[in-house]
Amino acid sequence: HFDQHDSVWLFGYGSLIWKAGFPYRERRPASIRGWTRRFWQASHDHRGTPEAPGRVATLVAEAGAVCHGMAYRITPDVFAPLDVREKNGYLRVITELTFADGGQDTGVVYIAGEDNAAFAGPAPESEIARRIAASHGPSGANRDYLLKLAEALRELGVDDPHVFTLERELLALLRDRPGRADGA
Ligand code: BEZ
Repeated sequence: HFDQHDSVWLFGYGSLIWKAGFPYRERRPASIRGWTRRFWQASHDHRGTPEAPGRVATLVAEAGAVCHGMAYRITPDVFAPLDVREKNGYLRVITELTFADGGQDTGVVYIAGEDNAAFAGPAPESEIARRIAASHGPSGANRDYLLKLAEALRELGVDDPHVFTLERELLALLRDRPGRADGA
């Protein structure tokens, strides 16, 4: 069975927006308050390697900020594979969700805090974009992660200046120095 009691909301703000990869009962655009999306987390196991780590999204606490993403209603057993998939410094945090079509509920979000070993911290967006352009890992090219996220946010009608600046910087780099289509 699958009722209200054995399901929980999971809020996605990165790859989970466009690629769930797990079964879910519902999928609803949502936002959370007090957090802002930043490409400040190094990825040596998904979108990069230990020698050339990529950059992926995490959330940074910021008073008054709103982060838009996608909420999935899942059964708790989905967390086990996710905990493995997101092992690179991400921890589960409980948060209040606001659904785009109205209503609120409590949910879970994976956040890689500044105390985790792979936290890269702030850097100029041009620098982050250069790192993204140069990184590839088992999950694919780092550039595809950023381009898909920007595309998914556009589809949701969400403005995210950090992500769209990174996208613009990345596309400029790719125009100047076109690489192979697969990014290798
Ligand atoms: C997310 O999309 O919310 C997410 C994806 C990977 C790791 C942490 C969070």
